[in-house]
Amino acid sequence: MRSNQPQTIYLSEYQVPAYLVDHVDLRFELFEEGARVHSTLSVRRNPDSRAASAPLELDGDSLRLESVALDGAELSAADYEDRGDQLVIASVPEQFELSVVTWIEPQNNTRLEGLYKSSGMFCTQCEAEGFRCITFFPDRPDVMARFRTRIEADKASYPVLLSNGNDVDRGELEGGRHFVTWEDPFPKPCYLFALVAGDLVEKRDTFRTCSGRDIDLRMYVEPRNAEKCDHAMDSLKRSMSWDEEVYGREYDLDIFMIVAVDDFNMGAMENKGLNIFNSSCVLASQDTATDAAFQRIEAIVAHEYFHNWSGNRVTCRDWFQLSLKEGFTVFRDSQFSADMGSPTVKRIEDVTLLRTAQFAEDAGPMAHPVRPASYMEISNFYTLTIYEKGAEVVRMIHNLLGPEMFRKGSDLYFERHDGQAVTTDDFVRAMEDASGRDLTQFRLWYEQAGTPVLNVSDEFDAEQGVYRLNIAQHIPDTPGQSNKKPQHIPFALGLLGSRGEPLPLKLEAGEENAPAERVLELTEASHTFEFHGIGERPVPSLLRHFSAPVRVNYPWSREQLLFLMSHDPDGFNRWDAGQRLAVDVIQSLVGAPKDAAVEPRLVTSYRHLICDSSLDQALVAKMLQLPSEAYLIELADNADAPAIHRARERVLKHLAISLRDELVACYRRNLESGDYEITPEAIARRSLRNTALAWLLVINDEEGRELAVRQFRSADNMTDRMGALRALVNSDYEEDRNLALEEFYQQFREDPQVIEQWFSVQAASDRAGQLPQIHALLEHPAFDWKNPNKVRSVVGAFAGQNLSAFHNPDGSGYDFLAEQVCRLDDSNPQIAARLVTPLTRWRKFAPEYSEQMKAALERIRDKDGLSRDVYEVVHKSLA
Ligand code: PHE
Ligand code: ZN
Repeated sequence: MRSNQPQTIYLSEYQVPAYLVDHVDLRFELFEEGARVHSTLSVRRNPDSRAASAPLELDGDSLRLESVALDGAELSAADYEDRGDQLVIASVPEQFELSVVTWIEPQNNTRLEGLYKSSGMFCTQCEAEGFRCITFFPDRPDVMARFRTRIEADKASYPVLLSNGNDVDRGELEGGRHFVTWEDPFPKPCYLFALVAGDLVEKRDTFRTCSGRDIDLRMYVEPRNAEKCDHAMDSLKRSMSWDEEVYGREYDLDIFMIVAVDDFNMGAMENKGLNIFNSSCVLASQDTATDAAFQRIEAIVAHEYFHNWSGNRVTCRDWFQLSLKEGFTVFRDSQFSADMGSPTVKRIEDVTLLRTAQFAEDAGPMAHPVRPASYMEISNFYTLTIYEKGAEVVRMIHNLLGPEMFRKGSDLYFERHDGQAVTTDDFVRAMEDASGRDLTQFRLWYEQAGTPVLNVSDEFDAEQGVYRLNIAQHIPDTPGQSNKKPQHIPFALGLLGSRGEPLPLKLEAGEENAPAERVLELTEASHTFEFHGIGERPVPSLLRHFSAPVRVNYPWSREQLLFLMSHDPDGFNRWDAGQRLAVDVIQSLVGAPKDAAVEPRLVTSYRHLICDSSLDQALVAKMLQLPSEAYLIELADNADAPAIHRARERVLKHLAISLRDELVACYRRNLESGDYEITPEAIARRSLRNTALAWLLVINDEEGRELAVRQFRSADNMTDRMGALRALVNSDYEEDRNLALEEFYQQFREDPQVIEQWFSVQAASDRAGQLPQIHALLEHPAFDWKNPNKVRSVVGAFAGQNLSAFHNPDGSGYDFLAEQVCRLDDSNPQIAARLVTPLTRWRKFAPEYSEQMKAALERIRDKDGLSRDVYEVVHKSLA
């Protein structure tokens, strides 16, 4: 709650800390009416700091200070200054012990930063700047200390007391209380500190590391979730051995713990030895979690585990370096998921997210480089750019160096910087030093925001047998950055002959054994490449496996796209050709007369996909997904969301009507025979039959309806149950829809994670999620404003997925979102700021929409006591 304008923090103003903390001794007294935190810091002046005799400044937020003592002597109020957000002691010795006692109220902490309560348990979230809500401390990642933590609480209500490291002591206290002491031998920044106290059940397992050490694996969950831990535990063990094999990284502590909490702002957190997860990102059973959830859980468990090296052992110097740990760790978890399942499908999923959401961010008012130069509120920078584009940047290094050199580089990075807080530049330097490659120009990927655009043109010189490809790059202006320099872009391609055969790519006339795929390195604003010995005009397959996070413009004909869909040896590009074709067809129907024809060749190619069971079914399942409305909007200028929605629906209905019998056959062919499994093949089968079902219900097919109702009732897993429910919800069978929704609710009302899915399937549907129905969901007894998952599953799903309802021309969707943002801003500013995102895209839309979106932003801007989080997003969006 502030009246004055938030400060901007600049990377260029980074200074090393004036004081270092070697050791932290914490004692928590946990009570129902609050918590007393006793902290003793061993502090010394930083020899590397030039700020001699600087005052000691410790960060704090919402703390009630009870006492301060220096080297055991209590200080009087005249000796220090409590500025609210800082505790300042003007004069301190070279080296000293500082003891501070603070009082906090976890039970009233609705921001979910620092120490808070979630369903009766105490838990913490300290990244990025939550530790300052627990006690006064230099809350910055380059101050690394050893922590010893004693937790005291009522034994009956809080039998389980956890913190980082090893439990070294425990015992009984008076009044039914008890304590446990934890010691973490590894120095760490305070953002990795964690504490949990609750009545939790423990699930145990062990993992033997490559050097033969046995690690105790423990999961802690509420008793009702005891049966939902196996998948996460198995994922953890797979992650541990994968990191040993692929990166040579062994786990370092004796215990690794995972805790599930219901109220959590993000997905999960990599606290040293004590990862804390949003329940929806860790708990799963066949009956309650969809295939997508199983895969998400495996990826997030891996992600948090991988942070133990990429994030914890080697951490970030400052928050501008966030992508150092996040980009690298996302890259690592996506390699892991690719190895566990279908690499092509994983690539398609990553690129879909990147192109739909990160490209939109990079083209909007919050665009920022992978290494930002400034921020107001760091919580706003846990973005798709830092995470997903950051991972793409690491992937490009991997592709430029090749897997062996990349491994040498990562080994050097971990060895050189173990125990340090470093920068993205240190990462790139390790890659350079290990490989001998010069990545000077490549570093621009970290500094320049915006998605590079590649304009590709070609000509075929039949006489000389030469095919020329011109590739020109330019990077659009973004807030505060214009006239950007060309970047170093790895561009993978192949050329196909008329029978679909890969052609050798001879860059010199007489070249022998030329490869059929090359990675061209673009470094200039424009390049022309000549391919020799080409007998006929080839079809180019460009940017294979999406070798760089760029937009490619090339005047593909529909003929060429159809050709690539069936012939490209790169599975990713086969899929991409299908997407481009579908985008082209849908775009040509936006605003077209009702009776405009739908491209007949689209139907033919989809028929082929549905009927030819010799094709890779996992890829087919992906190829049958039409481009999303969000992606179509991202590609449009002056977007008219309802018109895009109608055009897409029209294509969907046309496909479904034309392929009706094939869809029924596809459904029946993919019916499950054996037990439920989570293999790529089984996932593809479920995806195919649920797509068939969804399409049949879009055209009100009676047989489809019967199949959906039967599947809904008889499903033995959540993927099929949810697939049928979603199909019914998105159909015109109103009675069946309401019946199914009611039945589903009654069956799963005790399970919050399932009810979240139940909320979002409605909120995301244009049939079940119009504004009056959304209001009804907010009034539903299972809805809870204090639970971020519930807010996301209704408000987030409505504004982010139900695009034709959100962009209702009367502006009601925008008003609604503005109202909910203002309501949340007081209780949970992080979540409120994230919810604003759809409105920040206002410049993308046609004036009748954009003006109303802007007005909604202005209403948020004018709210009294706007949080720093929402202030930054709204002001930058309106600038
Ligand atoms: N560091 C967490 C991750 O990506 C994300 C996170 C950030 C969680 C901030 C909570 C708060 O693994
Ligand atoms: Zn992470």
